[in-house]
Amino acid sequence: MLLTVALLFTVFSLICERSLGQVSLRNGTALNTRAFVKQDCDGVKTYICDSCVSRRPCVGVQEINVSIPCATGSYCTTLTAGDRCGPIPSDECISSTASKPFTCTSLGVFPDPNNCNVYHVCLAAKDNSNVYKCAPGYVFDIASVGCIRQVLPTTCVTVRCAVGSPAYVLYGNSRQYYVICDGQNLPTQVMRCPNGSFFTFFSTTLPYGECVYSCTGQGNYPNSNNPISYFQCYISNGRLVYTEVDCPKNTVFNSTLRYCVLST
Ligand SMILES: *[C@@H]1O[C@H](CO)[C@@H](O)[C@H](O)[C@H]1NC(C)=O
Ligand SMILES: *[C@@H]1O[C@H](CO)[C@@H](O)[C@H](O)[C@H]1NC(C)=O
Ligand SMILES: *[C@@H]1O[C@H](CO)[C@@H](O)[C@H](O)[C@H]1NC(C)=O
Ligand SMILES: *[C@@H]1O[C@H](CO)[C@@H](O)[C@H](O)[C@H]1NC(C)=O
Repeated sequence: MLLTVALLFTVFSLICERSLGQVSLRNGTALNTRAFVKQDCDGVKTYICDSCVSRRPCVGVQEINVSIPCATGSYCTTLTAGDRCGPIPSDECISSTASKPFTCTSLGVFPDPNNCNVYHVCLAAKDNSNVYKCAPGYVFDIASVGCIRQVLPTTCVTVRCAVGSPAYVLYGNSRQYYVICDGQNLPTQVMRCPNGSFFTFFSTTLPYGECVYSCTGQGNYPNSNNPISYFQCYISNGRLVYTEVDCPKNTVFNSTLRYCVLST
C-alpha cells in the first residue's frame, strides 16, 4: 500500500519530505544514551552483574575478579539479594543498546537490532548514527523505510544473539540486513549489504558469511556502501564473477561513466 519508496541516495529528501501515515521521519525524537554501570558488592549480594550477560562472585564487599557468563540466551538481572541470570535483560541493558548511536558503516536508514520502536539515520560513513523514535504503536519497517502501525507482534523485528556463540545473524527474513553478535552482549548495530548484494553464509554449519554481489552483466557497477570502490563483473570459465576494486586515490566511481573520476 501507500507510497513509492525511492530508497538509496535519498536520505536527505527522505528526512525532509517523506511521511508515512502520521509519522514523519523528521519528527523522530532523539533519545538519551545510558550505558551499563557495574555496581559494587554490597556485603549482602553473592553475585554482582558485571555486564549485561555475566556476573562476578562477591565475598562480603570483596569482588572476585572472575567473570562468569550467563547461560546461552540469558541475561544478568540486578536483584536486591544477588544478581541472577534470567531470560529478561535489565532495563539498563535494553536502553543502553536500544538508544545508543552506532558508528555508521554506510549511508542510509537502519533498524535497531534490539528495539523496533527506534531506527538510525546515517548521513556519513564513520559518523555516529542519529537515533529516532517511532510514534507509540508504530514500529520501524525496512521494506518501507519508515514507521508502520504495529498490527501483529511479529511486525516488530529484533535480533537475538546467543550468549557464548559469536555469529553473524540475519535481521528478520532479510538477506540485506544483518548483525554481528560478539557472543557476550546484545547486538549493537545492524549492517547493510550494498545494493545488489546479498548476505551469504560461507557454509550451512559456519555462522559467518559476507555480502556477495550479484552481477547482472559484465562491466563496472557502483558499490552503494562505498562510493570510492566498485564491483567489476566479468566472465571467467563461463561464469559471471566479480571482484571489488578500489578507485585510485582522490577519485570516486561515477555510475554513469562507469569508471572512477576525480572527486570534486
Ligand atoms: C513535526 O513536523 C512538523 C512539520 O512536518 C513540524 O512543524 C513540527 O515542529 C515537528 N514536531 C517536532 C516535535 O519536531
Ligand atoms: C581482573 O582480571 C583480568 C584478567 O583476568 C585482568 O586483566 C584485570 O587487570 C584484573 N582486574 C583487577 C582489578 O584485578
Ligand atoms: C540497485 O541495484 C539494482 C540491481 O543491481 C539496480 O537496478 C538499481 O538501479 C540500483 N539502485 C541504485 C539506487 O543504485
Ligand atoms: C558522472 O559523470 C557524468 C558525465 O560526465 C556527469 O554528468 C555526472 O554528474 C557524474 N555523476 C556524478 C555523481 O558525479
